Amino acid sequence: MARILDIRLAVSADATAIATMSRDLIETGLDWSWTRERVARALARKDTIGAAGYLGLTMTGFALMRFGYEEANLDLLAVRPPWRRRGIGRALVQWLEESALVAGIGIVRIQVRADQPAALAFYRSLGYRSWRKVAGYYGKRQTALYMAHDLWCPPVLDSLR
Ligand SMILES: CC(C)(COP(=O)(O)OP(=O)(O)OC[C@H]1O[C@@H](n2cnc3c(N)ncnc32)[C@H](O)[C@@H]1OP(=O)(O)O)[C@@H](O)C(=O)NCCC(=O)NCCS
Repeated sequence: MARILDIRLAVSADATAIATMSRDLIETGLDWSWTRERVARALARKDTIGAAGYLGLTMTGFALMRFGYEEANLDLLAVRPPWRRRGIGRALVQWLEESALVAGIGIVRIQVRADQPAALAFYRSLGYRSWRKVAGYYGKRQTALYMAHDLWCPPVLDSLR
Protein backbone atom coordinates (compact mmCIF):
# COMPACT_ATOMS: atom_id res chain seq x y z
CA MET A 1 0.00 0.00 0.00
CA ALA A 2 1.42 3.42 -0.95
CA ARG A 3 2.18 5.58 2.07
CA ILE A 4 1.67 9.31 2.13
CA LEU A 5 4.54 11.59 3.05
CA ASP A 6 3.64 13.76 6.01
CA ILE A 7 5.66 17.00 5.98
CA ARG A 8 5.70 18.69 9.38
CA LEU A 9 7.37 21.70 10.89
CA ALA A 10 10.51 20.35 12.56
CA VAL A 11 10.60 20.80 16.33
CA SER A 12 13.32 20.46 18.97
CA ALA A 13 12.47 16.75 19.40
CA ASP A 14 13.64 16.27 15.79
CA ALA A 15 17.07 17.83 16.45
CA THR A 16 18.90 14.57 17.16
CA ALA A 17 17.64 12.87 13.98
CA ILE A 18 18.42 15.97 11.88
CA ALA A 19 21.92 16.34 13.34
CA THR A 20 22.70 12.65 12.81
CA MET A 21 21.51 12.79 9.20
CA SER A 22 23.57 15.95 8.65
CA ARG A 23 26.69 14.20 9.94
CA ASP A 24 26.15 10.97 8.00
CA LEU A 25 24.58 12.20 4.75
CA ILE A 26 25.69 15.83 4.25
CA GLU A 27 28.95 16.46 6.10
CA THR A 28 30.61 13.21 5.08
CA GLY A 29 34.40 13.60 5.06
CA LEU A 30 34.19 16.93 6.90
CA ASP A 31 34.13 17.86 10.57
CA TRP A 32 30.61 17.57 12.05
CA SER A 33 29.36 21.14 12.41
CA TRP A 34 25.58 20.65 12.55
CA THR A 35 25.55 19.02 15.98
CA ARG A 36 22.32 18.43 17.92
CA GLU A 37 22.91 21.64 19.88
CA ARG A 38 23.40 23.70 16.74
CA VAL A 39 20.32 22.24 15.07
CA ALA A 40 18.23 22.86 18.22
CA ARG A 41 19.48 26.47 18.37
CA ALA A 42 18.61 26.96 14.68
CA LEU A 43 15.10 25.53 15.11
CA ALA A 44 14.52 27.87 18.06
CA ARG A 45 15.36 30.95 15.95
CA LYS A 46 12.52 33.05 14.60
CA ASP A 47 14.16 33.32 11.17
CA THR A 48 14.61 29.57 10.63
CA ILE A 49 12.20 26.75 9.92
CA GLY A 50 12.73 23.07 9.31
CA ALA A 51 10.59 20.69 7.29
CA ALA A 52 10.59 17.06 8.41
CA GLY A 53 9.21 14.41 6.07
CA TYR A 54 7.72 11.43 7.88
CA LEU A 55 6.53 8.09 6.58
CA GLY A 56 4.82 6.64 9.62
CA LEU A 57 7.23 7.04 12.54
CA THR A 58 10.33 7.36 10.33
CA MET A 59 11.83 10.71 9.43
CA THR A 60 12.80 9.99 5.83
CA GLY A 61 14.25 13.42 5.14
CA PHE A 62 14.43 16.99 6.30
CA ALA A 63 15.34 20.49 5.12
CA LEU A 64 16.26 23.66 6.99
CA MET A 65 15.70 27.17 5.64
CA ARG A 66 16.80 30.57 6.99
CA PHE A 67 14.71 33.59 6.00
CA GLY A 68 16.13 37.05 5.35
CA TYR A 69 14.19 40.16 4.36
CA GLU A 70 14.29 39.51 0.62
CA GLU A 71 16.04 36.17 0.25
CA ALA A 72 16.10 32.80 1.96
CA ASN A 73 18.94 30.31 2.30
CA LEU A 74 18.43 26.56 2.25
CA ASP A 75 21.02 25.53 4.86
CA LEU A 76 20.51 21.76 4.97
CA LEU A 77 18.69 19.04 3.05
CA ALA A 78 18.95 15.27 3.14
CA VAL A 79 16.85 12.21 2.36
CA ARG A 80 17.78 8.82 3.79
CA PRO A 81 19.19 6.52 1.05
CA PRO A 82 16.36 3.93 1.06
CA TRP A 83 13.81 6.64 0.27
CA ARG A 84 15.68 8.54 -2.45
CA ARG A 85 14.31 9.12 -5.97
CA ARG A 86 10.72 9.08 -4.74
CA GLY A 87 10.16 12.84 -4.82
CA ILE A 88 10.74 13.40 -1.09
CA GLY A 89 13.60 15.89 -1.55
CA ARG A 90 11.56 17.83 -4.10
CA ALA A 91 8.50 17.85 -1.81
CA LEU A 92 10.57 19.16 1.15
CA VAL A 93 12.18 21.95 -0.88
CA GLN A 94 8.88 22.97 -2.47
CA TRP A 95 7.20 23.04 0.97
CA LEU A 96 9.85 25.53 2.15
CA GLU A 97 9.75 27.50 -1.11
CA GLU A 98 6.00 27.96 -0.67
CA SER A 99 6.65 29.25 2.86
CA ALA A 100 9.20 31.69 1.41
CA LEU A 101 6.69 32.95 -1.17
CA VAL A 102 4.07 33.48 1.54
CA ALA A 103 6.68 35.52 3.45
CA GLY A 104 7.20 37.70 0.35
CA ILE A 105 10.57 36.17 -0.54
CA GLY A 106 11.33 35.38 -4.19
CA ILE A 107 14.95 34.22 -4.15
CA VAL A 108 16.24 31.07 -2.49
CA ARG A 109 19.99 30.50 -2.27
CA ILE A 110 21.93 27.34 -1.52
CA GLN A 111 25.56 26.26 -1.25
CA VAL A 112 26.28 22.79 -2.62
CA ARG A 113 29.42 20.68 -2.43
CA ALA A 114 30.91 20.57 -5.90
CA ASP A 115 31.76 16.88 -5.35
CA GLN A 116 28.09 15.90 -5.03
CA PRO A 117 26.77 15.37 -8.59
CA ALA A 118 23.46 13.94 -7.31
CA ALA A 119 22.75 17.07 -5.28
CA LEU A 120 23.72 19.33 -8.20
CA ALA A 121 21.44 17.40 -10.57
CA PHE A 122 18.67 17.52 -7.99
CA TYR A 123 18.84 21.31 -7.55
CA ARG A 124 19.12 21.90 -11.31
CA SER A 125 15.97 19.85 -11.81
CA LEU A 126 14.18 22.18 -9.39
CA GLY A 127 15.25 25.31 -11.28
CA TYR A 128 18.35 26.29 -9.27
CA ARG A 129 21.24 27.70 -11.30
CA SER A 130 24.86 28.09 -10.19
CA TRP A 131 26.43 31.52 -10.28
CA ARG A 132 29.65 31.25 -8.25
CA LYS A 133 32.28 28.68 -7.26
CA VAL A 134 34.10 29.08 -3.93
CA ALA A 135 37.18 26.92 -3.26
CA GLY A 136 37.74 25.79 0.34
CA TYR A 137 34.23 26.74 1.44
CA TYR A 138 33.70 23.53 3.43
CA GLY A 139 36.33 23.02 6.12
CA LYS A 140 38.92 24.73 3.88
CA ARG A 141 38.83 21.47 1.88
CA GLN A 142 35.79 21.30 -0.35
CA THR A 143 34.63 23.60 -3.12
CA ALA A 144 31.09 24.96 -2.99
CA LEU A 145 28.83 26.00 -5.82
CA TYR A 146 26.50 28.84 -4.95
CA MET A 147 23.12 28.29 -6.58
CA ALA A 148 19.93 30.33 -6.60
CA HIS A 149 16.31 29.93 -7.64
CA ASP A 150 14.11 32.86 -8.62
CA LEU A 151 10.68 31.78 -7.38
CA TRP A 152 8.93 34.67 -9.09
CA CYS A 153 10.31 33.82 -12.52
CA PRO A 154 8.15 31.15 -14.21
CA PRO A 155 10.12 28.28 -15.77
CA VAL A 156 10.93 28.64 -19.46
CA LEU A 157 9.37 25.74 -21.35
CA ASP A 158 11.86 23.82 -23.47
CA SER A 159 9.50 24.21 -26.44
CA LEU A 160 9.82 28.03 -26.17
CA ARG A 161 13.61 28.20 -26.02
C1 LIG B 1 19.98 15.42 -3.02
C2 LIG B 1 18.87 14.62 -2.31
C3 LIG B 1 18.31 15.44 -1.16
C4 LIG B 1 17.75 14.31 -3.32
O1 LIG B 1 16.66 13.74 -2.62
P1 LIG B 1 15.59 12.77 -3.37
O2 LIG B 1 14.41 12.62 -2.48
O3 LIG B 1 16.27 11.52 -3.79
O4 LIG B 1 15.23 13.63 -4.66
P2 LIG B 1 13.88 13.54 -5.54
O5 LIG B 1 13.41 12.11 -5.59
O6 LIG B 1 12.91 14.55 -5.04
O7 LIG B 1 14.46 13.94 -6.97
C5 LIG B 1 13.91 15.00 -7.75
C6 LIG B 1 14.69 15.08 -9.04
O8 LIG B 1 16.06 15.47 -8.77
C7 LIG B 1 16.94 14.81 -9.71
N1 LIG B 1 17.79 13.85 -8.97
C8 LIG B 1 17.67 13.44 -7.67
N2 LIG B 1 18.65 12.59 -7.35
C9 LIG B 1 19.42 12.44 -8.46
C10 LIG B 1 20.58 11.64 -8.76
N3 LIG B 1 21.15 10.83 -7.85
N4 LIG B 1 21.11 11.75 -10.00
C11 LIG B 1 20.54 12.53 -10.95
N5 LIG B 1 19.43 13.30 -10.72
C12 LIG B 1 18.88 13.25 -9.50
C13 LIG B 1 16.02 14.03 -10.67
O9 LIG B 1 15.69 14.89 -11.74
C14 LIG B 1 14.80 13.77 -9.79
O10 LIG B 1 13.61 13.54 -10.52
P3 LIG B 1 13.31 12.05 -11.10
O11 LIG B 1 13.55 11.09 -9.99
O12 LIG B 1 11.86 12.15 -11.51
O13 LIG B 1 14.25 11.85 -12.25
C15 LIG B 1 19.44 13.25 -1.79
O14 LIG B 1 20.13 12.60 -2.85
C16 LIG B 1 20.39 13.38 -0.61
O15 LIG B 1 19.96 13.41 0.55
N6 LIG B 1 21.72 13.46 -0.87
C17 LIG B 1 22.72 13.55 0.20
C18 LIG B 1 22.69 14.87 0.94
C19 LIG B 1 22.85 16.06 0.01
O16 LIG B 1 23.65 16.04 -0.94
N7 LIG B 1 22.08 17.13 0.31
C20 LIG B 1 22.06 18.33 -0.51
C21 LIG B 1 23.08 19.34 -0.16
S1 LIG B 1 22.85 20.01 1.48
